Amino acid sequence: MNRVAIYPGSFDPLTMGHVDIIKRAAPLFDKLYICISESTAKSYTFSLEERKQLIKECFPSDTIEVVVNKGLTAKVAKELGAQYILRGIRTYMDMEYEKSMDTMNSSLYPDLETIFLFASSHLSTISSSLVKEVAFLGGDISTFVPPNVLNLLLDKVKKNEIE
Ligand code: COA
Repeated sequence: MNRVAIYPGSFDPLTMGHVDIIKRAAPLFDKLYICISESTAKSYTFSLEERKQLIKECFPSDTIEVVVNKGLTAKVAKELGAQYILRGIRTYMDMEYEKSMDTMNSSLYPDLETIFLFASSHLSTISSSLVKEVAFLGGDISTFVPPNVLNLLLDKVKKNEIE
């Protein structure tokens, strides 16, 4: 049976933390869907199309596909034929949130397993909003985001489009 996983997140924007998880997880699966979702509780800087394009440019591979999901992650996982949800854990503070998402997702679809990878330690304290904030304040974030993300982010800083 093909091993198919879905890696959900808002990716606003993709950071080297996400890249680290994707690169380490990709060899474990036959197909990995990177699934861009939005939470109603957050506001976003990059459009869904911008995020999709940036991620596709970073992973030009047949086995990694970028999709946009406006519904439940567990439901889209089933629709895509995924048996696994992939999530990264940066610090112990992520754990409680991950536990509740895992519990909810597996109660919706009991045969869906969530697989966790710990973030590499040098990337365990970054987040998308942190890199946006530092970029907005003129700090160098070039080691924390891929080059295409850096260019668009700096463009948005110039145009004052950062939320
Ligand atoms: N390295 C660096 N940063 C990371 C990271 C990693 N490995 N993993 C996560 N982050 C950052 C993200 O960039 C994000 O930063 P931000 O808050 O500054 O934007 C933060 O950690 C939280 O990321 P995450 O936990 O992935 O939250 P999210 O908002 O990006 O995504 C969804 C949450 C979209 C996966 C979840 O809300 C979802 O599945 N929604 C769909 C609807 C649904 O099914 N809801 C029920 C869920 S049980």
